[in-house]
Amino acid sequence: MEKEKVLVTSALPYANGPIHLGHLSGAYLPADIYVRYKRLKGDDIIYVCGSDEHGVPITITAEKEKVEPKVIIDRYHEMNKKAFDMFGMDFDIYSRTSLPVHHETAQTFFKSFYDQGILKEKKTLQFYDEKAKMFLPDRYVEGTCPRCGYEEARSDECEKCSSHYEPTELINPKSKITGETPVLRETSHWFFPLGKYQEWLENYIDEMNKKYGWKDNVLQQCRSWFNDGLKDRAVTRDLDWGVKVPLENSEGKVLYVWFEAVLGYISATKELSAKKNQPELWRNYWQDPGTKYIAFIGKDNIVFHAIMFPAMLKAWNDGNEDKYIYPQNVPANEFLNFEGKKFSKSRGWGIDVIEFLEMFPADPLRYTLAANLPENKDTDFYWKEFQARNNNELADILGNFVNRTFTFAHKHFEGKVPKRGELLPIDNEMLKANKEFPEKISALLEKFKIKDAVLEMMNLARTANKYFNDTEPWKTVKSDKERCGTTINISLQTVYTLAEVFYPVIPFAAAKMFKMLNAEKTDWFSAGEAKLPEGHRLNKAEILFRKIEDKVIEEQIAKLPATEEEPGKPKEITYEEFSEIDLRVAKIIDAGKIPKAEKLLKLQVDLGSEKRQIIAGVAKFYSPEDLIGKKVVVVANLRPAKLFGLKSEGMLLASENKDGQLKVVEVDDSVEIGAKVK
Ligand code: MF3
Ligand code: ZN
Repeated sequence: MEKEKVLVTSALPYANGPIHLGHLSGAYLPADIYVRYKRLKGDDIIYVCGSDEHGVPITITAEKEKVEPKVIIDRYHEMNKKAFDMFGMDFDIYSRTSLPVHHETAQTFFKSFYDQGILKEKKTLQFYDEKAKMFLPDRYVEGTCPRCGYEEARSDECEKCSSHYEPTELINPKSKITGETPVLRETSHWFFPLGKYQEWLENYIDEMNKKYGWKDNVLQQCRSWFNDGLKDRAVTRDLDWGVKVPLENSEGKVLYVWFEAVLGYISATKELSAKKNQPELWRNYWQDPGTKYIAFIGKDNIVFHAIMFPAMLKAWNDGNEDKYIYPQNVPANEFLNFEGKKFSKSRGWGIDVIEFLEMFPADPLRYTLAANLPENKDTDFYWKEFQARNNNELADILGNFVNRTFTFAHKHFEGKVPKRGELLPIDNEMLKANKEFPEKISALLEKFKIKDAVLEMMNLARTANKYFNDTEPWKTVKSDKERCGTTINISLQTVYTLAEVFYPVIPFAAAKMFKMLNAEKTDWFSAGEAKLPEGHRLNKAEILFRKIEDKVIEEQIAKLPATEEEPGKPKEITYEEFSEIDLRVAKIIDAGKIPKAEKLLKLQVDLGSEKRQIIAGVAKFYSPEDLIGKKVVVVANLRPAKLFGLKSEGMLLASENKDGQLKVVEVDDSVEIGAKVK
């Protein structure tokens, strides 16, 4: 197979807070799996990422904490870098947009557009906070959406209905800094004429899609932008924090964060080149038409990567000798939710990555997220699913197979690869699977169908377990040692293949498997064939996955903030809360009226271990004789009460029919008196 030259980027996360699991499953884990797979294949690939360190949210955080923005970005850059590291991200570089190399790169682009006469200066009306004495860009202003009425809309776009409008249209604007109503003041900004590039962009996307198959969610968003017609976009802001506008008389103006952030991929590659002492290396990727460039992102980043960034690269290429390549694909994921709801830092909903990885190893998290990627629709992370994927799949399927194989090899074959004897059809089938699975998985990964690829990885482990069961080495070890050796030989080859194909998803466990096999990673496509020679020494087995107990998972679930009650919906309770109610099957052995109490009947019930009196409000619907002999459900641990001077020890379950009559809940006759209802 021909080697490819590949450049991979993942969206640069804002250094404005800790990343959470949703980030990982959007733009990072899928890219990392792809990159690790490509590396195994022997492709020439670099993987570039870093912190996005400008933008209004960062200055808002800094103001809240009364510190300089630099304090914020330093804190979260280090934190997120560490989180990615613990998670096993295989970046070649994790850079920062606050570095001088980035400021220069971004200014050079701006200057080129300016010199080419592409940018237009326009006077606009901008919100100005008279109390804070500053212009209020974007998110400094909040108000009511002029289209849908959402009350927390931004100055120029609404999160709720995703419409875009002029800040002047925003209803009831408020400054986020002082809470005052801002005034509109004139200011001038530089605009990039996106509309001029629309035709070119439509052709570009069309061509890329025809050749490489873009995802539907990406195409749909682009089409909707094209339908609305691309407009001039302001690429400067009135702010102090950011990349300074490289023109005279531009005090207090910086480049719009999205305009410069996308160029951060280029600056990061330059930093990598400098670190490698090959300052021109970045051109070998960014400016060689032979490079395949893949930009991994979440769905909220589509317009910037599929429209804005390519248009900027085109504008550069039109006026310069050194020409950039364009993204060949922009695989954007939908969002991951957490236990049924959006991640929310303010509501404490979700978990950050470092906290997670201090409790659990990275592999089970990587596997769980990968098996459940929001490729085509939003998905959820559930603690219970995490536990199940770890225990029932990683430990019981993959771990179990590897463990069984190594136990046999060490116990019966002196820790060496036994001889492969005569092959039966069942052996040949296993060997065939070892060849076919890597091919199938590769084809899926190449198309960014990562979730499906992960399913196939586990299917190979399932096939392997079945092979082990069907060849019954625990029998043949006594009856036909050579036959047993053949099973173990082929199982060890299969462990080798599994280590290889699983490596992109669970690199830590895969590394252990290679070590146990005393073998190096091979080339992806020879994975199924790579032979461990007869007599090859194995290392001792290690534990690949530890089971996670119910208790541990329940503790995590209990940490989540109580869900707010919704009107009309019963309050949620935990299983523990439910199980505190002692529901029992009881038989009504006697029933009678109570003088002066028209609604009540006095019942004697048999609970098996004891008899009790219960006063029940069913006299209007049953005569005493109707009830005698019925098996019903009783709340047995209800606090005793006195009604009309009579003791009542428990409560009968009943429900109302459509005529408003109460019907007692009856129990199947085969159920014994005293049985617990759960
Ligand atoms: N910081 C942005 C976000 O988290 C992503 C920026 S991607 C870049 O949504 F390419 F612009 F850097
Ligand atoms: Zn709206």
